[in-house]
Amino acid sequence: MSDKELFELAVKAAGNSYCRYSSFSVGAALLAADGRVFTGCNVENSSYPLTNCAERTAVFKAVSEGCREFAAIAVAGSGSGDFSQRCLPCGACLQVLSEFCGSGLRVILADRAYTLGELLPYNFRL
Ligand code: THU
Repeated sequence: MSDKELFELAVKAAGNSYCRYSSFSVGAALLAADGRVFTGCNVENSSYPLTNCAERTAVFKAVSEGCREFAAIAVAGSGSGDFSQRCLPCGACLQVLSEFCGSGLRVILADRAYTLGELLPYNFRL
C-alpha cells in the first residue's frame, strides 16, 4: 500500500470523527506488518479528558484484535475539511505508538513521511 493510499484511508476515517466539542476531525490508518489496516477517529466526550484520539483508537483496535506489529500510520486532521495541512500526533499518541512500534515506524502526515523516532526521540520506558 502506498503512503498516499494509507493517507486517503485516514481521511476517510476522519469522516466518522465524533468531535462535537472541538469540531476538529482526525482520522488515522495504521498499517500492520501483515498488511491489515486498522482505522480510527477521535471520539470526544462531554467530560473532555475522556476524549480518545484517532491514533489511539486505531492502535487499541489493532491490539485488541491480536495485532501488535506495525509498519506505518497515516494521520489526517482538519477543522475545515481540508486535510492537506499536516496534523502532528499529540505526545500521548506518540507514547502509545512507542509501546508497540520501534523508532522506525513511518508516520505519514499529508505530503510528508516522518519516523516515530523523529517525532518522539525520547519515550518513557519502564
Ligand atoms: N486529536 C487526535 O485525534 N489526535 C491527536 O494526535 C491530537 C488531537 C483530537 C482530540 C480532539 O478530539 C481534537 O483532536 C482536538 O484536540
